[in-house]
Amino acid sequence: MIHSKLPNLGVTIFTKMSQLALETGAINLSQGFPDYDGPQALREAVVRHVMAGHNQYAPMAGLPALREQIAHKVTALYGRTVDAQNEITVTPGATQALFCAIQAIVREGDEVIVFDPCYDAYEPSVELAGGRCVHVPLTLPGFRIDWERLQAALSVRTRAIVLNTPHNPSGAIISHEELDQLASLIRDRDIYLISDEVYEHLVFDGRSHVSVLSHEELYARAFVVSSFGKTYHVTGWKTGYAIAPPALSTELRKVHQYVSFCSVTPLQWALADFMAAHPEHVTELPAFYQSKRDLFCDLMSSSRFDFTRTAGTYFQLADYSAIRDDLSDVEMVEWLTREHGVAAIPISVFYQQLPQGLRLVRFCFAKREETLRRAAEKLCAI
Ligand SMILES: Cc1ncc(COP(=O)(O)O)c(C=O)c1O
Repeated sequence: MIHSKLPNLGVTIFTKMSQLALETGAINLSQGFPDYDGPQALREAVVRHVMAGHNQYAPMAGLPALREQIAHKVTALYGRTVDAQNEITVTPGATQALFCAIQAIVREGDEVIVFDPCYDAYEPSVELAGGRCVHVPLTLPGFRIDWERLQAALSVRTRAIVLNTPHNPSGAIISHEELDQLASLIRDRDIYLISDEVYEHLVFDGRSHVSVLSHEELYARAFVVSSFGKTYHVTGWKTGYAIAPPALSTELRKVHQYVSFCSVTPLQWALADFMAAHPEHVTELPAFYQSKRDLFCDLMSSSRFDFTRTAGTYFQLADYSAIRDDLSDVEMVEWLTREHGVAAIPISVFYQQLPQGLRLVRFCFAKREETLRRAAEKLCAI
């Protein structure tokens, strides 16, 4: 008998729903990935670098040229000068950056505060490190931090807080004022911040992403994580990075060098080239995704789903209580997939305890216009 270290974990809902979509032929608006490719010049650059012989191990912390490009971007967008040599680590996906940050700081018996609804990658990593997640629900509607509950959740064992902005699944975006409030709450405590900012460029309606990188005091104790997969429409490349002050980066790298040692070499070369040649890609991304959000929401306006347009990410939450109030959200997505040909994600999987009466499912609109039109047609017919 194997005595599992993670006895409560099975396959994720994202795998399950994508599988069900495949089996039933449903349109897959569940898992968060585009049904279009990344920029052609980026893909061609990979081929070029593979053929040029860039196929051996990259430097452990990431290709210098790529780290330089990340540093340029951070200065341009968030006004921070980061040392590419000592503060940036390129990892195989944001997931691995998060894992390494958590393993680097969480010890047996530590508590890590996460906000529900919460992306599913944090908790298993905390548990593997011997820690425990303390779940603090965001307030509804709007998915904001509940400062009283956060304060009440802090203890002498609190080792870290995980922030996710823009937030999956709600799309909520943190403000400067909220970062200030967070800073004052943890000022006199020995608490780290892990800031998952993989949707940093997917912020709409003229608003800007407020990065922990732009907050002097919080950055001093933070790991800020992002994902090239999300930004360049290449989720399958699993390439991301962590930015942290030198002492924290050193600890993160101690884990990273024995989890994978380095990230895929030709992909790093290609990303460095592309970032240098096309800095406009990231500044054009909000408009690109906002038009997808607006198309999907306009099409869905005649449906019986109720929703407020998402402020960020490529996810749209929708309330289905006018359609099937009798179904739990897990039953609802199964029913939607099997009976109506559209797969979605139930919000309950992001909660330790789903708030009473919440009837929300998450649709991913990182899809071609034709896919969004076909899906909306099916959803409007319900
Ligand atoms: C909030 C959040 N963090 C991290 C990730 C993982 O990013 P990557 O694919 O680069 O590992 C995702 C992917 O869906 C995500 O939604």
